[in-house]
Amino acid sequence: MGVVALIGLFVVFYQYHLSTSVRFDQIADFNGGASAEDGPVLSQEEVERYVRTSKLTEEMIKSAVRRVQETNGLSPDVASTLIQQLMNHLRRNVFELPENNSKITRPVFTGRFEPSRNATSSQRSQESSSSSVSLSERTPEPLYIITPTYRRPEQIPELTRMSHTLMLVKNVHWLVIEDAAVATKQVTRLLERTGLKFEHLTAPMPEKYKQKKGAKPRGVSNRNRGLQWIRANATDGVFYFADDDNTYDIALFDEIRKTKRVSMFPVGLCTKFGLSSPIIKNEKFVGFYDGWIAGRKFPVDMAGFAVSVKFLLQRPNASMPFKAGYEEDGFLKSLAPFEPKEIEFLADNCTRVLAWHTQTKKNEPSAPLDMKLYGETNLIKLKQQIV
Ligand SMILES: *[C@@H]1O[C@H](CO)[C@@H](O)[C@H](O)[C@H]1NC(C)=O
Ligand SMILES: *[C@@H]1O[C@H](CO)[C@@H](O)[C@H](O)[C@H]1NC(C)=O
Ligand SMILES: *[C@@H]1O[C@H](CO)[C@@H](O)[C@H](O)[C@H]1NC(C)=O
Ligand SMILES: *[C@@H]1O[C@H](CO)[C@@H](O)[C@H](O)[C@H]1NC(C)=O
Ligand SMILES: *[C@@H]1O[C@H](CO)[C@@H](O)[C@H](O)[C@H]1NC(C)=O
Repeated sequence: MGVVALIGLFVVFYQYHLSTSVRFDQIADFNGGASAEDGPVLSQEEVERYVRTSKLTEEMIKSAVRRVQETNGLSPDVASTLIQQLMNHLRRNVFELPENNSKITRPVFTGRFEPSRNATSSQRSQESSSSSVSLSERTPEPLYIITPTYRRPEQIPELTRMSHTLMLVKNVHWLVIEDAAVATKQVTRLLERTGLKFEHLTAPMPEKYKQKKGAKPRGVSNRNRGLQWIRANATDGVFYFADDDNTYDIALFDEIRKTKRVSMFPVGLCTKFGLSSPIIKNEKFVGFYDGWIAGRKFPVDMAGFAVSVKFLLQRPNASMPFKAGYEEDGFLKSLAPFEPKEIEFLADNCTRVLAWHTQTKKNEPSAPLDMKLYGETNLIKLKQQIV
């Protein structure tokens, strides 16, 4: 038992000193030669130094938690659980290394904050894989994020930004649906690099709506394609329509997970109205605040509601109408029977803005490159990344 405890302490130490020259196989070696036959064995002196340093680390964790306990009134029970969890977690990360640690595996984003340090990609992949093992029994139900998009100069930067938000969320399945006949290859490459579970689909707007003058029902065929995918492939979890030009607080995703049927929450708007939200008075729902009510039963923003997959599956006819300005209202009405009084209010009873309807300035596509001047330069490769 003493040896096991000792190893545990080494592991804790190791977590804090990845950037030093100590390699994992050196520790594994000490642990009975489990791997890396040619790794150097630790000297007695090194062992003692590890023990001293790891005790120090343990003390650091304890004193940090105690300080938070004093200043923030953390209960003693919570404090000791926290210490235990931190210690366990640090140990687990190393003990549950996968057999294959040479290949970079798809990262599993756990939504937890990793201490910042300069780990190699191989170390990172070991850690994320081990985290996925230790958390597998606690994997939450999937969140399906339906993102309509279309080819334009802002497309890749917007999707880059959004993907980095989603990488912080557990068990996300991203349905990226392009209004195009052919998927943009730069988008596919980006999605592959994120390590997220994703579908890259296409759903062009029908010709008859394209030819229409005035506001077009943009993103409708994409979102309906997303719903079609969910009907065919999902059984539980929650879905959310998340446009690629919005901004999402990562706390939003934990909120959305609570959705039983249909949930709503405030959206920050970058307009004069500033806000779209259900209105709550004396803990009761009394109406909607939105710059454009327009006789809508559900005058809400596309980013202001989430729906459970099971609830959708019970409504085989629900879909989004091709009616510019009435997409949200039409979709929510198609979920009938469903009334405003049944809405679940998230974000602390609609007191926090966690989703922002931001918009990027529209830009002209870039001009083609002058091949005579730049034909043999790096600009060729760069230009291929611009859509
Ligand atoms: C480890 O990788 C090798 C080669 O890539 C593969 O043949 C083997 O099945 C992998 N083992 C495990 C446990 O994943
Ligand atoms: C991180 O480590 C790599 C490989 O050892 C090195 O090339 C790189 O300069 C380091 N980066 C920083 C910020 O220390
Ligand atoms: C369901 O998922 C499978 C596998 O990814 C895919 O081939 C199929 O097209 C999906 N169904 C729909 C309706 O999108
Ligand atoms: C769905 O639509 C079809 C055809 O419009 C209709 O016959 C059916 O009753 C509807 N189902 C539900 C559950 O509303
Ligand atoms: C939200 O309001 C309900 C009453 O309608 C109350 O029971 C609940 O504690 C509130 N939740 C939060 C997070 O404020």
